Amino acid sequence: MIIGLNEALEYAEKNQCGLAAVNTPFFAAVLGTIEVGEATGVPIILQFAQVHDPIVGIENMGPAMVALAERSEAPFVLHVDHGEDIDYIRKGLDMGFNSCMFDGSHHSFDDNVRLTREVVEMAHDRGIGVEGEIGMMTGNENGDPSQGEADETLYTDADEAAAFVEATGIDCLAASFGTVHGMYHKEPHLNLDLITRLRERTGVPIVMHGGSGLSDDDYRNATQRGVRKINYYTYAAKAALDAARPLAEDPEVLLWPTLAMAARDAVREDVMRFVKVLANKN
Ligand code: 13P
Repeated sequence: MIIGLNEALEYAEKNQCGLAAVNTPFFAAVLGTIEVGEATGVPIILQFAQVHDPIVGIENMGPAMVALAERSEAPFVLHVDHGEDIDYIRKGLDMGFNSCMFDGSHHSFDDNVRLTREVVEMAHDRGIGVEGEIGMMTGNENGDPSQGEADETLYTDADEAAAFVEATGIDCLAASFGTVHGMYHKEPHLNLDLITRLRERTGVPIVMHGGSGLSDDDYRNATQRGVRKINYYTYAAKAALDAARPLAEDPEVLLWPTLAMAARDAVREDVMRFVKVLANKN
């Protein structure tokens, strides 16, 4: 079943927990993540990021994600992640996604407000919740070794965040407070006081990006301070690769589906652990 972003965030607020928001740009990830939702009954946000379009187009993966979530008895939100332009977000919403993020964090404050507002107006007209972002996170998905550690000078400013939320009307806020996208090269240290200030000053749920690769305590501390949505991709995708790699070397394994099945099982196991930590079910 598909539920709204705000309904899912209310669940997280009521239960003082975090929601897993998992990017699924390969089919084994969609299947493994849906199985976790079905096994736990905890709402999961299934995400497709614009930057993953070269892996598989949203027009190919999106309808499969929507159909599988719709027919499941477990609750899912279908979220367009890191939308870079309104047309891409609209394309996702037209095919059944019911939640979106506009990422204008690399723009000036004024341009970020203007562009985010356009998305909010378009999405709210359809009853769809919007995540916006202010403050920057580095990322090393492409293997840049200079990345993989947070840059404090790019952290979100709480006063600016409050003005941004007020001016845009977004439903939740992605902010920078110590995480990075991709692999961590240095142990991350979250600025927990900043999370508290962001939550207090903005009044909206805080979203953590770069959510894989943290300790269980990091997740618990962040959710206690008001993080309600945690984006997760890299370490689940790595779990899939780690499971498939030895099979690829095995001369007895002849066909690709053996690796795809191993990837699905590995994603399920990895996301299950993550969802249970966030939902305080461990
Ligand atoms: P990771 O790939 O670092 O888990 O981050 C995912 C993310 O933030 C997607 O928006």
